[in-house]
This record gives sequence, structure tokens and C-alpha cells, in this order.
Amino acid sequence: MNRSVFGKFLPVFCLATVLAFPPSIRAASLVPLPPAPPVPSGNLMTKDKIALGKKLFFDPRLSANGSISCAFCHVPTAGYADPKPVSLGVGGKRGGRNAPPVLDAAYFPVQFWDGRAGSLEEQALGPLTNPVEMANPDSRSIVTRLRRIREYRILFARVYGGQISIDHVAQAISAFERTLVTPDSPYDRYLMGDKNALTAAQKRGLAIFQGKGRCAACHNGILLSDSAYHNLGVPQTGPMRVDVGRYAITHDPMDKGKFRTPTLRNVALTAPYMHDGAFRTLKEVVDFYDRGGGKSPYTKDSLIVPLHLSAQDKKDLVEFLKSLSGETRTQLSYRASR
Ligand code: HEC
Ligand code: HEC
Repeated sequence: MNRSVFGKFLPVFCLATVLAFPPSIRAASLVPLPPAPPVPSGNLMTKDKIALGKKLFFDPRLSANGSISCAFCHVPTAGYADPKPVSLGVGGKRGGRNAPPVLDAAYFPVQFWDGRAGSLEEQALGPLTNPVEMANPDSRSIVTRLRRIREYRILFARVYGGQISIDHVAQAISAFERTLVTPDSPYDRYLMGDKNALTAAQKRGLAIFQGKGRCAACHNGILLSDSAYHNLGVPQTGPMRVDVGRYAITHDPMDKGKFRTPTLRNVALTAPYMHDGAFRTLKEVVDFYDRGGGKSPYTKDSLIVPLHLSAQDKKDLVEFLKSLSGETRTQLSYRASR
């Protein structure tokens, strides 16, 4: 992450720090609902741009054979994640990883399980030319295809006042993605001071999440993610039998097997779980943590140890995780009106 990116996201980090404190410390200062994600100065949000980005996100003509849109793998009813353990791209080719939710992804300072993209704009270019995803040979071919579509010529001219370019495609999609936020989950309302927003079981689950479950050590802030990388020893079930994770980016041997802590927002909607979709249910995930994670040839995170939770504790924890789903604000008016 370079400095300028950090600067852009500084307000989020500050708020994330506030939210990371246990409720006792936080109680005095009322925490506001999560603010809208940061918007880079080079890609301001306008109503027309968001509408164009939405159209592109759902348009299979962006893929080489006209069959796969972004939404094919980021399914709106599944929290904009993929219900398949690993994604299938053009021609049924299998990728190595589970598609994470695009919902609330705009809050992450870096994108992907290994953090290899520094922004949504940079991220969007990835799947378009990835051979196992949308499989375009290069960005030129996408631009050529879109320029032949009259409707896009009109829409791009309206937003950008000129010819279609790949950067404008990425920008419009990113502007749309920044509207995909869910700031009003029961947990958010609870943090705001509505003590009835969580059920009794969810409140007990929250105590375990912050206490003996140690979950909040890594899952904290707006996203319930520290945006850092950890190795839990998740079983390697994907077609990429050995996925070294963050190591492929940094080449630091200590990063072997580490993946970015995913958001837990809307986690009840985004099964299956983990970078390779190894677990089908939240119960399986909680059982995995309870037994101290999995085996790994690499150094495992020191926080991942057997937790000795009771059956009731585990149920409560799962109930708490269900309180993290909010309403999707795809209404174009939401961000564009500012
Ligand atoms: C064939 C399936 C597939 C298609 C099509 C696809 N994605 Fe993804 N997407 C994935 C997978 C798999 C990952 C995780 C890859 C990784 O981390 O290495 C991902 C990651 C992402 C992320 C990162 C989220 C995060 O939390 O880090 C965003 C944002 C995203 N995709 C947006 C898009 C957009 C925009 C498009 C269309 C231009 C698109 N995707 C098309 C499968 C797909
Ligand atoms: C050491 C940091 C750390 C701790 C502690 C931790 N997690 Fe995680 N969590 C992660 C990372 C990293 C992943 C992704 C791992 C992977 O895919 O290899 C993850 C994945 C998950 C997922 C899957 C989300 C998805 O979209 O795939 C859930 C659910 C989850 N954690 C819940 C919990 C709960 C509940 C606890 C406490 C019992 C907990 N975590 C403790 C770091 C942590």
C-alpha cells in the first residue's frame, strides 16, 4: 500500500480504530453509523456514472464469449459473493479461489484475498482480462466491443464527454461498487445505542466474539476485518492445491499461507466460506476455530488455538454473525445526491 492510498483512506482507519475498542471504552461516545466509503478525487460519483457502472457490472458482453458478467460470480442475492466454492469463468474454467463479496468491499484499502490490487479501479481491470474469468485477450478488445454498442457510446459520452476507454470502464464500475454498502445491520444499530437491535443470544455471541473467542482481534472496525493477513491453516480444497496466499505478492516466507481477513458484514449471505470455499456453513467455520484451526506446513497465527467453547457458545456465536447483515443500498440516489 503506498502512502497516498493510505492518506485517502485515513478517515476510515480512524473510525475503524474507534470501533475496534470494546463497548465499555466506546460507550461514552456514541458511534455513528458507518460513513460512506471514501471516494478518490480522480473518480467522483455522479448519478450517470453510477448508472453506467451498474449496467456494465451486469452486462455479460464484457466477457470474451458474451456469457459472463461481474454479477455471474458476484451474485446480488448472495451478498454479491459467489455461492460456488470456487468461481467458474468463461468456458467453465475453474478459478482457484472463492469470490468475496463486493458488498462493502469499497471500505477495504486493498482488494483480493492477497491484497494485490490497491483500489477498486485497479481491481476491476483484473477479471476482465483474467483467462479463467472473463477471458478477454486484452483491454483493447473490450473497448472495441463496447464502442460498437450504440447505447454505450451515448452513455460514455454523457459521463465522460469522449471516447470509451478501459479506465473509464473501471471507474464507472467502481463508482457503482461504492454504492453497494450495508450500513444498517442490527449490529450497527446496536453500536448506535439501540440495545434491542440484538437478540439475547446475539448479545451472548458478541461477548464471545470479543472475549474468549478472540475473533475481534482480527475481525474489527467497520468491516470487521483488520485488513491484515493471517494463516489459519484452512484446508486446501481448491483446485490450486497449494495456494501460498500473500507470499505470492511479497515473497516474504513469513507470508506463506496468509490471506486477508475477510469482512464479516453480510456473512450469513456469503457461504461458502474462506479463500477456497472450504466450509459450507457458519457452524463449520465456528467448529474450525474451536478446534484451533487446521494443519499448515507454514507458521500459523498464534491467536489460532483451541477455544474450548460450549455447544451453547458456538450457537450464540453463529447467531451473532447473523446480526451483521444490513440492507443493500443500491438506490442510485443514495450516494449520487451528494
Ligand atoms: C469468473 C468469476 C468472476 C468474475 C466474472 C468476476 N469476479 Fe470478481 N472475484 C472473483 C474471485 C474468485 C475473486 C477473488 C480472487 C482473489 O482474491 O484472488 C474476486 C474478487 C473481486 C473483488 C475483491 C473483493 C475483496 O474484498 O477483495 C472485487 C471488488 C471484484 N471481484 C469485483 C469484480 C468486478 C467489478 C467484476 C467485473 C468486471 C468481477 N469481479 C468479475 C471472481 C469473479
Ligand atoms: C488471527 C486472525 C483471526 C482470528 C482470531 C479470527 N479470524 Fe476469522 N478469519 C481470518 C482470516 C485470515 C480468514 C480467511 C482465512 C482463509 O481464507 O484462509 C477468516 C475467515 C473467517 C470467516 C469466513 C468469512 C468468509 O467470507 O469467507 C468467518 C465467518 C470468520 N473468519 C469468523 C471468525 C470468528 C467467529 C472468529 C472467532 C471464533 C474468528 N473468525 C477469528 C482471521 C481471523
